[in-house]
Amino acid sequence: MKKILVGNWKMNLVSLEAESFFASMPINREITIGIAAPATLLRGLRDHADRLGILLGAQNMHENKAGPYTGEISAAHLLDAGADFVILGHSERRVLFHETNDQVEKKVESAVVEGLSFVLCVGETREQDEEGVGDEVVTHQIRSALSSLTEPNLKGAMVAYEPVWAIGAGQPATADQIEEKHQLIRDELIKLFGEEGKNVPILYGGSVNADNLEEILQIPNVDGALVGGASLDPQTFNEMIEITGESS
Ligand code: 13P
Repeated sequence: MKKILVGNWKMNLVSLEAESFFASMPINREITIGIAAPATLLRGLRDHADRLGILLGAQNMHENKAGPYTGEISAAHLLDAGADFVILGHSERRVLFHETNDQVEKKVESAVVEGLSFVLCVGETREQDEEGVGDEVVTHQIRSALSSLTEPNLKGAMVAYEPVWAIGAGQPATADQIEEKHQLIRDELIKLFGEEGKNVPILYGGSVNADNLEEILQIPNVDGALVGGASLDPQTFNEMIEITGESS
């Protein structure tokens, strides 16, 4: 499997900044690159993404296809705007916008029905980690979010382990912590989907930067990285593309 580097821009960058970012990005076919941009930028970035051969993603969507949900955007809208994938269940959605496992499950189902790939984010909070229930939380998040899927729907599915306490913290989880949780996720995917569960990429996210990426990519069952803050600077991100390429 090619190593994967996905930037999650969160609520940052406007179109001029995004276009100059894409203009400076190198073409690299050794790895899979994705950028999850604000939904308003997707259409404008589509041609650039095609030229670079990268995946374009959104960061959230509503679980229903259409209807009276003022301000919301569905999988159909994201596809229409040019998205290849969507991030679902990011902890900022869960914590700040009270998104539940039930909603995440519905979103996963809707993305699959519409033909939109997804990155499912899972991860425990600091409190859950301290209470010793981190494994349980992550296992439950995986099981509930993917409960409606069968093996053929797994194409294009990715999971990202993002411990909530490591996001934006400047310090990622330790190699041991990452290895342990990625193994747990891999075991769960195999329980759910048999052999096919081995082919679902598992990304690590949480304070990944150009200095720690190489070490993180060496950890067993780490197929790539989901990068927040460090994905906003084109030079840094380009450096991370190079590092990911060298780790492949
Ligand atoms: P940081 O890389 O800024 O810690 O954010 C990680 C993240 O939330 C990616 O989805």
